[in-house]
Amino acid sequence: MTRLSVNINKVALLRNSRGANFPDLIKTAIDCEEFGAQGITVHPRPDQRHVKYTDIPALKEVVTTEFNIEGYPSEAFIDLVIQNKPDQCTLVPDLPGALTSDNGWDTIAHQKFLKTTVSRLQDAGIRVSLFIDPIEDRLYAAKETGTDRIEFYTGPYAHLYTQEKAQAISAFMAAAYVCNDIGLGINAGHDLNLDNLKFFKSHIPQLLEVSIGHALIVDALYLGLKNTIQLYLKALS
Ligand code: PXP
Repeated sequence: MTRLSVNINKVALLRNSRGANFPDLIKTAIDCEEFGAQGITVHPRPDQRHVKYTDIPALKEVVTTEFNIEGYPSEAFIDLVIQNKPDQCTLVPDLPGALTSDNGWDTIAHQKFLKTTVSRLQDAGIRVSLFIDPIEDRLYAAKETGTDRIEFYTGPYAHLYTQEKAQAISAFMAAAYVCNDIGLGINAGHDLNLDNLKFFKSHIPQLLEVSIGHALIVDALYLGLKNTIQLYLKALS
């Protein structure tokens, strides 16, 4: 089974644009789960334009499926994660002010830092995943950090998929083979949508989880949140 984790950052962005608690982020998380989501993902960024640090404890209380907090491992972020103990923490190399995550870790250059960070989180009982591009050397280096999983950065896949599907998936298939071989669990995310998700899943059968935000929330504007979540689940089935 591939778990669908709904990234609710864009719901927080909408709420923050007016200053009041509308839409209610906590209710959205509960509703997503009721509509079939198998996880909730948040990405608290340093400028807190999306999910805020103060949202995390309330989310932790209501999420009953799988709670995934992703972000750049600053000391403030690590403290937040350790205090709130999500099921999973996905470490992302996005700098403060980044519009969105647009590359994976260079696990060779940052191996020492990642190794220390991974074990701090694991010592707190939190599963760790590293956001990464499908590059063989970096997968081996990721394994050395002790991480439980990797999350493939699928932005380039989504971009190329519209022109050349087979080419778009090939690096990910090769990388998934390596992950299986060395014992790294596979998650994926970024720019996945109702057009490209089924093809990705069908070529990466070992896929444990996808986290999807932007396209899913945009689809929900037209199709409704319940219907949309059902359609994404169908694409993964
Ligand atoms: N994974 C990571 C690490 C991300 O930073 C994001 C965006 O916040 C996503 C997945 C989800 O990407 P999208 O919003 O394009 O579905």
